[in-house]
Amino acid sequence: MGFAFVQISDHHLRASEALLTYGYSPAWAFRAVLRHIAENVADQIDFIVTTGDLVHAGTDEEYQTVRQMMQFQPVSAAPGPQRITFEGLTDFPFYCLPGNHDPRQAFYRNLFPLSTAAEQMNVAFEHQGVQFVCLDWGADNKAVATTEMLEFLKGALQAPIPTILFMHHHVVPIGSRWLDDFIADDVQKFWDLVAGVDTHRQKVLGVFCGHTHASYETQVAGVPVFGVRSTTFQFALQDERLFCLRPPHYRLVTIEDGSHGVHLETKIFEVPL
Ligand SMILES: [Fe+2]
Repeated sequence: MGFAFVQISDHHLRASEALLTYGYSPAWAFRAVLRHIAENVADQIDFIVTTGDLVHAGTDEEYQTVRQMMQFQPVSAAPGPQRITFEGLTDFPFYCLPGNHDPRQAFYRNLFPLSTAAEQMNVAFEHQGVQFVCLDWGADNKAVATTEMLEFLKGALQAPIPTILFMHHHVVPIGSRWLDDFIADDVQKFWDLVAGVDTHRQKVLGVFCGHTHASYETQVAGVPVFGVRSTTFQFALQDERLFCLRPPHYRLVTIEDGSHGVHLETKIFEVPL
């Protein structure tokens, strides 16, 4: 076993590429990030995954603009892979999770017309012997650990193969009071499931989140947890909400089967604008 993928997050794309958000062009930055991926790591990776907030207002018009920009081909049920042809990437596998800016009905209707829309996108797929579990904490700013989501996770963690968790909302505090208030009140139910897996059968290799628009790396119960800086505007890491602009990030994730079993390594790439 050995492969790699890239995580990107929080693009907040608009109905027109010319539209600015707080004086910043999300489309221009998004193009720069995908171009950087194409030029630097595309030949090493099997797919790109976005952990949500593909668009800003959640309108059909925004999704259709994105579809046209990236020449989406509706080849798969949610979460994909879709195939994109964009900024040097050709027919490239691209998985999408919804964020709190992606109303589920509009998300499914525009991106996954082959799927039946669901209130929550709790789904899993397998790639080269690794299970990828996509968890949905809801369409609000503040995460909610629903019974449906927890039951789905509980079932998925029975699979006797290594697992990686993808989600939009964050599950560990990052040091900003207003952002950390968005963590689910009952997040411990999630961690109890993750920390309680039978390690003879299952290993959670990592948890990859969006939502905070910030890159970070930490561990909970020995499980690595990662966030990645948005491709759109960011927030200053302070207690009150304050927008700021920094060069966007993407995270390269490499999975290897070493002498101590399957493990992953990651590397952040910063894209100059
Ligand atoms: Fe976001």
